[in-house]
Amino acid sequence: MIKISDLYYAYKVKNKHIEALKGIDLEIPKGEFVVFLGPNGSGKSTLVKHINGLLTPSAGEVVVDGINAKEDDSIWKIRQKVGMVFQNPDNQIVANVVENDIAFGPENLGLSSSEIKERVKKSLSLTKILEYSKYEPHLLSGGQKQLVAIAGALAMEPEYLILDEPTSMLDPLSRRKILKIIHDLNKNHKTTILLVTHFTDEAVNADRVYILDAGRIACYGEPRETLGNISLLSKFQIKPLAMTSLAASLVKSGIDISTSVLTVDEMVEELCLLN
Ligand SMILES: Nc1ncnc2c1ncn2[C@@H]1O[C@H](COP(=O)(O)OP(=O)(O)OP(=O)(O)O)[C@@H](O)[C@H]1O
Ligand SMILES: [Mg+2]
Repeated sequence: MIKISDLYYAYKVKNKHIEALKGIDLEIPKGEFVVFLGPNGSGKSTLVKHINGLLTPSAGEVVVDGINAKEDDSIWKIRQKVGMVFQNPDNQIVANVVENDIAFGPENLGLSSSEIKERVKKSLSLTKILEYSKYEPHLLSGGQKQLVAIAGALAMEPEYLILDEPTSMLDPLSRRKILKIIHDLNKNHKTTILLVTHFTDEAVNADRVYILDAGRIACYGEPRETLGNISLLSKFQIKPLAMTSLAASLVKSGIDISTSVLTVDEMVEELCLLN
């Protein structure tokens, strides 16, 4: 479980302090799929960087499975538990052959070469890129490169995987592919997923959605409570789902359906209930 209590963080730029997090409290149980939404600059990246020790709290606590990120020898332990994938795959790939890139993390763990080979193969297979194992990463598409970055994180066998806008540079097809892979990881391998995104549709199948605003958690809840509430989303400049917008327009024109419709299937069901 990830437990964050009263977390504050300020960036120091010259002699100015930029308060990015202003008292965050949250608990993420193991096995959940959690999505963070919120306007630009609301603190999403700053928050998740605390969870694998890339940033240290100005005040407050970040505890992962009982390990406090503040303790001296804890960063190494936490990084083995919590993997991280960023927006731009080019900044995350270090080697010039895909399989070597994925082996990089496990090699630093000092594992035997047979264990490393095993982990590389497993990660390539989980991300469905076995056929690119001998490729030079720069020859791959953006989506394929992002899969290499995810495979690199998975080779460390993390219990928690944080993805900070992993699909924002990708085409819709690659975006769907990556979403499917992370949902499979969550379901079949019990990896806890923390996904930061600007795409509201990526949050539909989450267990919980957090909306950040100006360094605070503005609200959280299940997808229907958060994404299904159009006035809440507009308050935080979050684009509503197409079906939720459509439902709101239909209600405005006098059609009596639920306003918290999230998917096409739910819309069809609602419409079929009309006389
Ligand atoms: N390295 C930095 N130095 C100074 N200020 C920073 C730095 N990184 C972020 N900030 C500031 O901290 C606040 C939170 O930024 P953060 O990047 O966490 O937001 P975000 O929600 O991830 O935004 P986005 O959706 O644009 O990625 C913003 O005011 C931002 O300008
Ligand atoms: Mg960010």
